[in-house]
Amino acid sequence: AKRSKVTIVGSGNWGSVAAKLVASNALKLDSFHDEVRMWVYEETLPNGKKLTDVINRENENVKYLPGIKLGKNVVADPDLVHAVEGADMLVFVTPHQFVEGICKRLVGKLGKDVEAISLIKGMEVKREGPRMISSVISDQLGINCCVLMGANIANEIAEGKFSEATVGYRYDRAVAAKWVQLFTTPYFSVTPVQDVEGVELCGTLKNVVAIAAGFVDGLEMGNNTKAAIMRIGLREMKRFSKLLFPSVKDTTFFESCGVADLITTCLGGRNRRVAEAFAKNRGERSFDVLEAEMLHGQKLQGVSTASELYEVLSDRGWLEMFPLFATVHEISTGRLPPSAIVEYDGNSLEVA
Ligand code: NAD
Ligand code: 13P
Repeated sequence: AKRSKVTIVGSGNWGSVAAKLVASNALKLDSFHDEVRMWVYEETLPNGKKLTDVINRENENVKYLPGIKLGKNVVADPDLVHAVEGADMLVFVTPHQFVEGICKRLVGKLGKDVEAISLIKGMEVKREGPRMISSVISDQLGINCCVLMGANIANEIAEGKFSEATVGYRYDRAVAAKWVQLFTTPYFSVTPVQDVEGVELCGTLKNVVAIAAGFVDGLEMGNNTKAAIMRIGLREMKRFSKLLFPSVKDTTFFESCGVADLITTCLGGRNRRVAEAFAKNRGERSFDVLEAEMLHGQKLQGVSTASELYEVLSDRGWLEMFPLFATVHEISTGRLPPSAIVEYDGNSLEVA
């Protein structure tokens, strides 16, 4: 049988770890071509060298995943169209704000049987309403797109520490099984779930809850408060997901993409860390400034997702049903102080 060729579209912190996972399986399994291409958004490093050249020479993404070898069969390519040429399987893993532009450049460049998967946590909001990133990919490119989400802090997986993930698929169980096969390793356990929207909304919305968790850390409010934020946040995640897509399943929230990702991101994620710094500075230094200073080119998703979410909530008259989501946006834009995270119009955050 023909071996599938895989290209990773993206090469940030998680993108590089995804390349490493996939590359180890591509070498081992007969159903995949050995070489895994990885599209790199080219940049020049402080020493004057191109990131792509350094990745190919040292087999390491020295900027976004230093200290980790990717596998010799990973080939970095700065030319997006060349990187996807002849690919059968595309793994999309960039910060969500860049997806639309990337897809535009890929229109008409893909084979018709190409399958995609999105590891991207985020959504897009236009005048017509919200669209999940997997839909942006499948609508723009006319291809099927699964999702992979989970409690997956990239640096921990890079070191081979055990974690789980969830693949969300729409119709085709065999396609989901192929993605599960491509990603599963002894330390990365992947479960398929027939609920693309539920899986993707979990991954997307928990970033907003993680910003709230960071605020309570910055205010040194302790573990009970943080647990309360996680619980209230999970309820809003579930309520919003089901309002947007009534097909979303309750059980999805108990998969790795749901409660487990919420917990790990609220404990150890970048959204949490930068939001903690924001609250410690009483909001006097903006998220953009803190992101640039603390993350060295990596990107936060929670702040823009909170803003996108706020737009949807205001448009639909849902703001009062989602006090935690709404308050995160109001704090991150400076309209409310960080302490407002445990207040809402003077009342508690709880909405029956
Ligand atoms: P990242 O945060 O490391 O982002 C940096 C990447 O963005 C770099 O590859 C950079 O080259 C690229 N970039 C910068 N400007 C660009 C532009 N104009 N066009 C295209 N690319 C540009 O990225 P990441 O950690 O790989 O995250 C990608 C997605 O995966 C996000 O949605 C994130 O939420 C999700 N995710 C991340 C983690 C994690 O632990 N890092 C875990 C699970 C999911
Ligand atoms: P952060 O972007 O907050 O680091 O979250 C990473 C993540 O999505 C873990 O699953």
